[in-house]
Amino acid sequence: MDEKKKIIVTGGAGYIGSHTVVALIENGYEPIVIDDFRNSQKAVVANLEKITGQKLSVHAIDCCNEEAVRNLFASEKPMGIIHFAAYKAVGESVENPLMYYQNNLQSLVVLLKMVKEFKVETFVFSSSCTVYGEPKGAISVDEGFPIAKAFSPYGQTKIICEQIIEDFHKSHPEGKMICLRYFNPVGAHESALIGEYPIGKPNNLLPFITQTAIGKREILTIFGKDYDTPDGTCIRDYIHVCDLAEAHVRSIAFLEKQNRGLLDAVNVGTGKGTSVKEMVDTFEEATGVELKHQFGPRRQGDVPAIYANNEKMQRVLGFTPQKTIRDSITSAWNWEKYIHENESSK
Ligand code: WQD
Repeated sequence: MDEKKKIIVTGGAGYIGSHTVVALIENGYEPIVIDDFRNSQKAVVANLEKITGQKLSVHAIDCCNEEAVRNLFASEKPMGIIHFAAYKAVGESVENPLMYYQNNLQSLVVLLKMVKEFKVETFVFSSSCTVYGEPKGAISVDEGFPIAKAFSPYGQTKIICEQIIEDFHKSHPEGKMICLRYFNPVGAHESALIGEYPIGKPNNLLPFITQTAIGKREILTIFGKDYDTPDGTCIRDYIHVCDLAEAHVRSIAFLEKQNRGLLDAVNVGTGKGTSVKEMVDTFEEATGVELKHQFGPRRQGDVPAIYANNEKMQRVLGFTPQKTIRDSITSAWNWEKYIHENESSK
């Protein structure tokens, strides 16, 4: 039996990272997780081992620690890297921009050094639709859309990281690299053993909905109902985290097959828009739980409508998202109930 291909997954105990670890194992890869648990729970590792039925290789290393990362690469000699580890809270990045620039940029530089030193064949970077800024007027965004000045230092780190990767690739043209630009990741694994675990008050919509429904939050406020959209609330492209995870595995497989170096960027979304009100209505209909909600003022920085043109993902990665909004919502609700049962049993 030939040895499994090792893929370094930084931030592998995080929301998208943990779901990608499952998808990698299901596709015959051996994920090597780097996570110092500053933004994730150690319990995720045990649950990943429950889901996959195998022991995980996990290293509590700070990706900015070049010596520690180099020692790991020297011993593991991975075929690929999927780099998730980064700070990602928009609001926090405004309060603490230097922490974001130092961590998100330095960790990437360290990993790119490893690509060169250890001739790592494939590299997938966790980027975001936030690099498009506020696409004026446009609703369905493709990869040719101009990269705009981001709304937050968090978004700006994604733009700068893509630029660092582009400049690195010019010096290392044999590298096979992809930047995946996520739209709105939602939902949880069907086991309800892993999912999005917001630390403190959630920024994102679906965790706020499920926390309100479980009684952790008083009421959901819908930020604005006077937008120029069919029901007046904002429209987004919500993609199930398991589809997003699969897109990462497809990216590694696609890069492996290339016989020359390349660098590309791919949007990862469903290609469909869903409004905030539709998310609320679908939640109530799918779960039978009434959701206390009210309408409030617009949130600064929100764009009225944005969703992915995901034609390139389908063409390049040969992947079309399989899960529905209803799947995302019911899986997120099951995960919220799992958290509640476990928190209340502590
Ligand atoms: C979605 C919609 C809100 C909460 C963010 C990041 C982006 C990316 C995805 C990382 C908006 C509305 C929300 C609430 C509400 N993350 N809302 N009441 O802002 O589209 O994108 O997550 O890459 O970088 O910016 O997602 O979930 O915060 O908001 O009405 O209590 O839900 O106004 O219209 P967003 P979100």
